[in-house]
Amino acid sequence: MAIERTFSMIKPDAIKRNLSGAINSMIENAGFRIIAQKRIRITLEQAQKFYDIHKGKPFYDDLCMFIASGPVVVQILEKDNAIEDYRKLMGDTNPETAQDWTIRKKYGISIDQNSIHGSDSVETANREISFFFKDDEIIG
Ligand code: RTP
Ligand code: MG
Repeated sequence: MAIERTFSMIKPDAIKRNLSGAINSMIENAGFRIIAQKRIRITLEQAQKFYDIHKGKPFYDDLCMFIASGPVVVQILEKDNAIEDYRKLMGDTNPETAQDWTIRKKYGISIDQNSIHGSDSVETANREISFFFKDDEIIG
């Protein structure tokens, strides 16, 4: 399988609960390398742009406000088959129905406060990585 990069975000609910290290341990133990990472505060305008695919859906406004509500950690993860494998490690969008070994089951609070985001395709991974990282911030 080819080495891939995916974009990950540790969401405000997890940062607030001091879980970035615990989540990064799960990520690294699953074989991903965290090849770039920074802690930032996303503006409401950035959140609206980042999630524009969901514009018009009932949860869009709350989602954007939540993502902009506190610090997040954005990161680039590298591994064979990273995009699909990270979606599996994250688990279902709703932590209640996620499998036991997933990040969302372990740390998610609700479908809204589900601790983590990961890209869902090669196209979105490329878009989301360049949304938050300049080339010279990616050391590898
Ligand atoms: P994400 O984009 O955050 O990685 O999550 P996902 O792919 O599993 O879910 P997606 O469908 O892309 O939705 C983005 C975020 O919106 C919230 N959501 N709420 N109330 C609802 O029905 C609902 N559906 C989605 C979730 O917080 C989800 O992570
Ligand atoms: Mg999504």
